[in-house]
Amino acid sequence: MLANYLPYKKIHVVYKHESFQKIVPQLDIQIKQVIINNVNDILSYKGKSYAREYKNNLKKGYTGFYAYLDSKVIGHAWGTINLTNKIQKVRGYFKLPQDSAFIFHCAVHPDYRGKKIYQTLLINLYNRLYSIGAQSIYIDTDMNNIPSQKAIEKTGCGLQYTVTLWSIRSKPILCYKNNYYEVAKR
Ligand SMILES: CC(C)(COP(=O)(O)OP(=O)(O)OC[C@H]1O[C@@H](n2cnc3c(N)ncnc32)[C@H](O)[C@@H]1OP(=O)(O)O)[C@@H](O)C(=O)NCCC(=O)NCCS
Repeated sequence: MLANYLPYKKIHVVYKHESFQKIVPQLDIQIKQVIINNVNDILSYKGKSYAREYKNNLKKGYTGFYAYLDSKVIGHAWGTINLTNKIQKVRGYFKLPQDSAFIFHCAVHPDYRGKKIYQTLLINLYNRLYSIGAQSIYIDTDMNNIPSQKAIEKTGCGLQYTVTLWSIRSKPILCYKNNYYEVAKR
């Protein structure tokens, strides 16, 4: 369909982790780092393509956490850290400097949202990323994703700027930084 080939616009809000906040989840969840032995546990929440993708994440050296309720995965969060001396592009637009980390691939099962599970996953991920060498941690979310923005802010992240991204079929073709006030005004 022609519509698939038309450029579309998305605005990303970029945050940086600044301070640790105490987060208490409202469900009795367990948080575990994703390793090869438990990567397939995602199948209790999502389909096989995710299991494949997350195995690939492990191969690429990404760090991931699952949130479990009654032994079933109900949430996940992933991050990557750039330990090379070259800038790495992540999310198709973000230039990740040396010793910095970026968080992505995060979600919580719709039945369990609003109970600070995402915030708990993020705190675990920050801790781990710092412990393996991250000096700075960045995270972005969609301009319209209020629950995500609220959760990110509650975990001690500060708004940096917004980025407008034009893409075709998920491939960014144009990207520019907006100033802070566009978000502050919303
Ligand atoms: C974004 C997402 C991960 C949040 O997960 P979650 O476990 O529900 O998040 P948390 O409970 O930790 O935090 C959400 C916060 O937003 C609040 N919130 C939820 N819906 C809201 C809304 N419509 N308006 C304002 N605040 C809202 C919650 O009350 C909570 O704040 P609180 O701690 O003050 O109560 C989840 O909604 C999700 O999986 N969405 C789809 C995938 C996605 O957007 N991933 C994130 C990409 S960065």
